[in-house]
Amino acid sequence: MRILAIETSCDETGVAIVETWGSSTAPKTIKVLANTLVSQAVLHAEFGGVFPALARREHAKNIVPLVVHALKIARLAKKLKVERVLTKKEVFALAKILHKEPELFVQFKELLNSFKIPKVDAVAVTSGPGLEPALWVGINTAEALGALWGVPVIPVNHMEGHIVASLMNTTDDGKTFSLATPKYPSLALLISGGHTELILMPSKGKYKMLGQTRDDAVGEAFDKVARMLGLAYPGGPEISRLAEKAPAHQKLSVPLPRPMLKSGDFDFSFSGLKTSVLYAIKKFETLTDRDRELIAKDFEDSVTEVLLTKTLTAAKKYNVKEIILGGGVTANKKIRGAFREAVSKELSGTSLFIPDVHLSGDNGLMIGVAGLLRSKPKKHIIANGTLKLAKSVSPTLAELRKKKKM
Ligand code: KG4
Ligand code: ZN
Repeated sequence: MRILAIETSCDETGVAIVETWGSSTAPKTIKVLANTLVSQAVLHAEFGGVFPALARREHAKNIVPLVVHALKIARLAKKLKVERVLTKKEVFALAKILHKEPELFVQFKELLNSFKIPKVDAVAVTSGPGLEPALWVGINTAEALGALWGVPVIPVNHMEGHIVASLMNTTDDGKTFSLATPKYPSLALLISGGHTELILMPSKGKYKMLGQTRDDAVGEAFDKVARMLGLAYPGGPEISRLAEKAPAHQKLSVPLPRPMLKSGDFDFSFSGLKTSVLYAIKKFETLTDRDRELIAKDFEDSVTEVLLTKTLTAAKKYNVKEIILGGGVTANKKIRGAFREAVSKELSGTSLFIPDVHLSGDNGLMIGVAGLLRSKPKKHIIANGTLKLAKSVSPTLAELRKKKKM
């Protein structure tokens, strides 16, 4: 089974080609034929966050060239000796799928005119959650490829992709990797620019939401606090670098809060913490480099403490065999180190999975592997910006308010 995977949920355009043998839904070894990525981060930097219309435009500009590039790397791009002319039926099908992306239509025509249909068995694509205008570019590209190559299209939940990325173990050659078989019950902490979720996985493919953020996602808080401190987007790595400069023994004179630490549930909230940073900044008449370093360090410490405490409490309560961390924020050194240390000290029988740093952010590879595991094709995929992986065990605050009103 060979899958071409597409990721366009946020500000990274990712295309990967993966291959496995034998059972595709329980593979042990997966070969990476190509893994390509174009990041738009520098373009969004001046807005201090991802600007959806710009993300859409950039995905549309880059996606077809990236598909061709990935096919070339995988040695699957075979040029036709004589250019082919698309049939009327093909042109009609393409125009229908790409009616919202006319710029893609021309690029697709060139791709199909010049290259033989590659040996690919399916196309996988992120269908949500994420920015809908951005998701549509990936979905329409995947559907166009599916229709013209005559292969099924598999929708993939982006958050499931982040979980899978954590289970991937790159081998020495970097081109194949083994996939850990999760042991259940398992607990996933998903921390990214749009999500902060603690999810219980009682058995394969089953997800229960134990808690989530009530306001900002943790990555979003990193990005906003970075902006307050005059740092570039994405803020996570910048805060980390600044925090590392702070002397280990020195603390912020008035420490930042540890939000929801004692809330008695598994929900999170980072919006108040962000406001506390703003107050801390305002307190200084002139903010020195050392002040900024101490603020960054205490912010990172606060986030780490809250994430770790809640995850460990849930792991003990549900007696989980594994803890899986996923999402862009898992690239954070402090968080990685704190989880490793605490799990080995306090939960010696529990395994901890953290993605390789190069797989922690958004990428096409994790979508390809999640697509292999899922293998459930669908006709007419719809972008869903708020696609859920798991149902809440307890109602969220918004749901409770809605119920009260009824
Ligand atoms: O998963 P991801 O690549 O995209 C989304 O699905 O949102 O996560 C992006 C987020 C950004 O908010 C970014 O600031 C954060 O991950 N991030 C980090 C680090 N590297 C990336 N946060 C903290 N520390 C890092 N080293
Ligand atoms: Zn992500």
